[in-house]
Amino acid sequence: MTIYNLGSINADIFYRVPHLPMAGETLSAVSMERGLGGKGANMSVAAARAAARTVHIGAVGKDGLWAKDRLTEFGVDTRHIHVAGTTGHAIINVDDQGENSIVLLAGANREITRDMVGAALSDASVGDILVMQNETNAQAEAAKMAKDLGLRVAYAAAPFEVAAIEAVLPYLDFLFVNQVEAEQLSIAMGKAVHDLGIEHVIVTLGSKGSIWYNQSLSASKRFASHKVTPVDTTGAGDTFTGYVLAGLDRGMPMEQAIGLATKAAAIMVTRHGTSDVIPDLKDVQDHFGG
Ligand code: RIB
Repeated sequence: MTIYNLGSINADIFYRVPHLPMAGETLSAVSMERGLGGKGANMSVAAARAAARTVHIGAVGKDGLWAKDRLTEFGVDTRHIHVAGTTGHAIINVDDQGENSIVLLAGANREITRDMVGAALSDASVGDILVMQNETNAQAEAAKMAKDLGLRVAYAAAPFEVAAIEAVLPYLDFLFVNQVEAEQLSIAMGKAVHDLGIEHVIVTLGSKGSIWYNQSLSASKRFASHKVTPVDTTGAGDTFTGYVLAGLDRGMPMEQAIGLATKAAAIMVTRHGTSDVIPDLKDVQDHFGG
């Protein structure tokens, strides 16, 4: 099976700072690094590193061809990454506790056309997965197209925007939200996230693990996290989502897929960076055994 990812690709520029800057504050960074990122790219790399066939649908500018090359090196199918405009980028401040604040410029990520999505999905088979986040355009069109073709549709609601979720909601099989997003969504919709009519809702709780709500079983299950000392939480959620979907794509039951994803995310928070440092299955095995 295959995971199709309509996803952002960013140049991530990381500043290590003693604390996250306050309004009006000028702050000296300790260091600066650049790398491949974007919630979409991170999920594609995670899914590929978890051994799922992964096709990325997206766009970079001519200044971002290195990002496309890097995704190819990670084993992602990049034939549906187009060249348009200027590559998206993210300014990421990371403090001494590993917390971050991110400023995004979408650039080429919002220049994806319906035809680009259609061309990629024309190769898809029933049961494949389409995953999206809220850093590109064309999500609702892609979700409808995918559903009509018999794909399973997953959405990670970040950056959070109620209208963007409402547009894809009728098509979703999987919704990934963190605790803050779950609360925001629940207030906006006037009901709990597990009452939105979505078969699988996964709420990530950072160091407290995650909860999976399953509509058909009317059940929920809590997953504990692994104790680690975090140095940078950036991209951990994307790693978790990519790993869960890769596990499901490879035929794992949800509990097993979440278990594997929880391990990968735990390793991820002990590393500085995003796509470039996402663990592969061997890293997970070396770290946790099994
Ligand atoms: O989730 C982390 C990602 O958010 C970063 O890679 C950055 O590019 C932004 O998209």
